[in-house]
Amino acid sequence: MIILGIETSCDETAASVVANGRDILSHVVSSSLVHHKKYGGIIPEIASRKQLESIHTVVDEALKTARKKISQLDGVAVTASPGLIGSLLVGISFAQGLAYSHNIPLVKVDHIMAHIYANFLVFQRTSGRPQTPELPAVGLIVSGGHTNLFFIKNFRSIELIGQTRDDAAGETYDKVSRILGLGYPGGPAIDRLAQQGKNTEFTFPCAQLPGSYDFSFSGIKTAIYYLAHHHKDHHNKLPVKKIAYSFQKSVVDVLVKKTIDACQRKKARTILVGGGVAANSELRRRLLQAGQDQGIKVFFPDLRLCIDNASMIAGLGFHIIQQQTI
Ligand code: KG4
Ligand code: ZN
Repeated sequence: MIILGIETSCDETAASVVANGRDILSHVVSSSLVHHKKYGGIIPEIASRKQLESIHTVVDEALKTARKKISQLDGVAVTASPGLIGSLLVGISFAQGLAYSHNIPLVKVDHIMAHIYANFLVFQRTSGRPQTPELPAVGLIVSGGHTNLFFIKNFRSIELIGQTRDDAAGETYDKVSRILGLGYPGGPAIDRLAQQGKNTEFTFPCAQLPGSYDFSFSGIKTAIYYLAHHHKDHHNKLPVKKIAYSFQKSVVDVLVKKTIDACQRKKARTILVGGGVAANSELRRRLLQAGQDQGIKVFFPDLRLCIDNASMIAGLGFHIIQQQTI
């Protein structure tokens, strides 16, 4: 079964062709990020205009790379929510027009569930056959807009067991990055500098919220804000690498601890991670290590599947079209 996926929830315009919910035949992502950088975050109006400009070319490119004609598609899957309304509308309208005019089934896909599903996908020409994750699993979604813990019995029965009470993990990286003068997006910049800043001089509090699987990151952001201003007031150079290291350590500590705890409580032997922050080197290293210590299999998507993309939409869309559980 060949599904065309379309994703336009934020600043990425993406289209992919995926076979049987697993094999990625094409994967095209065009980002308007460079047009937002000078504002320090995504401007919804600019994002939706860029979506409109790119959608045709991106879908054409995805079909061409996969060597498929529209008539060979068994379905179209499109991101329905959550996301920026103007951006979402571009993808949804395009997908509706395409499906209606060619009489192809159309399904709407939840963006967050699709991030988790990214762990089930395989790029064509990947050597060997990667392991398929087993359910039940605990899902950790860490992105610019979300920090959620899910218990996934199957993709029809997903329970939200924890979420951030304020800033999302990626949002915190972006805000701390701005305080440190590292620009947008902050995750990759902090991740890189943190690797050179190992120290015990700085420790930042990260709320633990005992007895709950919720997260809170606004306190650590505020602590760094005041530290940075203290240095500025005293005309001291900001120890950016050390702060990046200590900040990242605290955030990763709490993400790893709650995810492993949830897995033990729910008696799951699999962890599925997704979202932009799943690209973080320290989170990948520490969670894989903790999983190994506890006998839990931890899955991170290929780095190309951590950022917003349409392969995850086509993959999950396949199961929705088939109305089967996985
Ligand atoms: O999932 P995503 O592409 O978009 C949303 O749906 O939000 O995630 C973007 C977020 C940004 O906040 C970015 O700073 C963060 O993912 N990010 C990272 C890394 N790469 C991207 N955060 C930490 N470490 C990284 N290596
Ligand atoms: Zn996303």
